Amino acid sequence: MLQKIIVTGGCGYIGSHTVVELISNNFEVVIIDDLSNSNKKTLERITKITGVCPSFEHIDLKDIEKTKSIFKKHNDAVAVIHFAAFKAVAESVKEPLMYYRNNLLSLINILEFQIEEGITNFIFSSSATVYGAPEKLPITEKNEVQRPFSPYGNTKKIAEEILEDLVKTSSNLSAISLRYFNPIGAHESGFLGELPNGIPNNLMPYITQTAAGIREELHVFGNDYDTKDGTPVRDYIHVVDLAEAHLKALQRLLNKEQEKPLEIYNLGTGNGYSVLEIIKSFEKTTNTSLNYKIVKRRPGDVEKLYADTTLAEEKLNWKCKHGIDEMIASSWKWEENLKNEQ
Ligand code: WQD
Repeated sequence: MLQKIIVTGGCGYIGSHTVVELISNNFEVVIIDDLSNSNKKTLERITKITGVCPSFEHIDLKDIEKTKSIFKKHNDAVAVIHFAAFKAVAESVKEPLMYYRNNLLSLINILEFQIEEGITNFIFSSSATVYGAPEKLPITEKNEVQRPFSPYGNTKKIAEEILEDLVKTSSNLSAISLRYFNPIGAHESGFLGELPNGIPNNLMPYITQTAAGIREELHVFGNDYDTKDGTPVRDYIHVVDLAEAHLKALQRLLNKEQEKPLEIYNLGTGNGYSVLEIIKSFEKTTNTSLNYKIVKRRPGDVEKLYADTTLAEEKLNWKCKHGIDEMIASSWKWEENLKNEQ
């Protein structure tokens, strides 16, 4: 009998790559997704890669009754991995209440009903954005969490605070929060990748869509930062490395190896790359020339962010395997496959 894992947001970018890893490691997966920022076609993509089609529950996790009944239906699950959330920084600034309602209400419903049904393990999709503009680099989990600039980032900070309070009172909940740096890349098959709705907010999909002729020109938001070439530095991590980290975190909880009821880990590579370095690597890796222009800074952007990955490597027995060129090549292969699907 396979152990069942509930994956919320499993039709999304990081969620779907994690579902592939879970199925490939003999877990049964139930995806809960409202498809507000993802596509049901992802189920076919997961099936194509793994040969298994995960169960799918199409509900809005803000709906208390529906969430309660879904957790009752799947109360034989041994863990929940929670990805489902709105995640566009700029949109969250324009629509703060939509973000607080969606990201926090769904979290509260999930936690309440999984505890009610005796599902004791919870893995949370958090973000390095909770560090704000870091006072020191590389960022360790001991770095002070600051008031994130965006409501999106603040929902991640508040969610972790909810977990901190909950594990103090609810003895039957063990949680791991994973703070992602910048996820990019796609599954090596080219059948699965990032599929942002509308105009991409993030750098990598904007680059690949510009190279594919979908976008006219990439705007590089500022080259007057105090960095090697003036453009901001980020710790880009391959989405498959990220997915594997979730599997390691799950195994830590299932083996009851956690040292405290809530553990927090940074998931990055420890290497920082500037925007121009990413562009240069893209041009070299894909042998194309990218159309871009330097424009003014994007409000809220942080100058430099990269992780100290020691804790995750040690406690999760996990280490990134993919380098920046592989991340970029896989993103481009995915973009080209998308074009061929049209
Ligand atoms: C990366 C760099 C931009 C687009 C955000 C969230 C984080 C996570 C990842 C969800 C920055 C520059 C970007 C463009 C550009 N989100 N850029 N032109 O802002 O580091 O992180 O996305 O989980 O929580 O905060 O990622 O990809 O938007 O930007 O120059 O068209 O690329 O200025 O320096 P970011 P990003």
